[in-house]
Amino acid sequence: MVRIGIGFLGCGNIGCGVYRLLTTYGDQIEKNEGVSFEIRRILVRSPGKKRSWDIPAQLLTDQVQDVLCDPQIDVVMEFMGGEEPASSYMTAALKNGKTVVTANKMALASHWQQIVAAAREYGAGLYYEASVCGAIPIIRAMNDSLQANRITSVMGIINGTTNYILSRMSREGAAYADVLADAQRLGLAEPDPTADVEGYDAAYKLSILSTLAFHRHVPVECVYREGITGVTPLDVQCGKEFGLTLKLLAVAKEEDGRIQARVHPTFVPDSHPLAGVNDAFNAVYVNGHACGEMMFYGRGAGDMPTASALVSDLIKAARTKRHLLPAVSDEPCEMADDWSCVHFVRLLAKDEPGVLSLVSGKLAAHGVSIASMVQKGEPDENGYVQMIFLTHRASERAVRSALAELDGEKVSTCSVIRVEGK
Ligand code: HSE
Repeated sequence: MVRIGIGFLGCGNIGCGVYRLLTTYGDQIEKNEGVSFEIRRILVRSPGKKRSWDIPAQLLTDQVQDVLCDPQIDVVMEFMGGEEPASSYMTAALKNGKTVVTANKMALASHWQQIVAAAREYGAGLYYEASVCGAIPIIRAMNDSLQANRITSVMGIINGTTNYILSRMSREGAAYADVLADAQRLGLAEPDPTADVEGYDAAYKLSILSTLAFHRHVPVECVYREGITGVTPLDVQCGKEFGLTLKLLAVAKEEDGRIQARVHPTFVPDSHPLAGVNDAFNAVYVNGHACGEMMFYGRGAGDMPTASALVSDLIKAARTKRHLLPAVSDEPCEMADDWSCVHFVRLLAKDEPGVLSLVSGKLAAHGVSIASMVQKGEPDENGYVQMIFLTHRASERAVRSALAELDGEKVSTCSVIRVEGK
């Protein structure tokens, strides 16, 4: 029997979930896996505060050294969230030879090199399955089950809050602000929703995923990011008429030796597996040269789904003799500054002879070919109509340049939304 002493850094929702899972299912884990866990200390800001699970007062401390320096603590589980002091505490724990298990994508993505270097130098374990997509075993898959593959692309719905909002907008034709307010009322979105709706949360996760997929460090600052605050019901509806579903997609691809990592509203064909991932669910769609396409689907947030990944990491760490660290090269990665995909474009155009040829001519001059086009509804009181088209696969830079040159009295660009999986 392997006996492991654990220290917690933080004990909010996720920490309480781990405490609950270990205290209610620990005996069975011991039987199944031959490892037993003893929670020795829990760092909290206010030891006297009421918690969702009854935790013995003698475990609680407000002194970080009680966790980082206790020789009987083998594994430090970090649930503080945020960049600091979490990343400094994790680095210190690793330097003390302790294994770190964390769900903190922000600290990990922002301080990847420092944290991984400390683990490597001190031979300590670093486990972070819960940092990307909660319960979904995508980190294990990348580091382990898919090792025999050259991964060519990863596309994911990796933020549940935005997927919930977009799913409802799509189902109900509702406006972004109304669904967000509802999600906040239901506790599904934070009072300050910025990290989710502006794509920061997904960008941290994509930095970690793409680093593992392509074996080169993809810093979070190199992830292109656009949130969902500008998404309109009209775009969602027009997309539907083209057989497309709108998602906040995290996309990472390696093409011609360059990596693209981007988070933005994206249409996918209704027939694509990602189109059926709704509400707060997450999914990651991976393409490997040997395995082909596969999709991982499940719950990306919540105390117990996240605890599932954290405790599984704990068991894996406890049963591992020599911890393996991610196989990431020190070579800097070359990021793409342009990419090509199908584009959905919505314009407001004067309904008069020659405007269509003006639009198609300008796009053609930039090498962009139109795949299909519709003019929607009757002209407004000034004689303008909605003109919506899909391009063939084209360079984004070329599409943007053509539209910038078109913008004027007769034509103005309302939206450009990338389409993937077509
Ligand atoms: N806020 C995240 C989401 C969960 O909505 O998916 C934690 O990363």
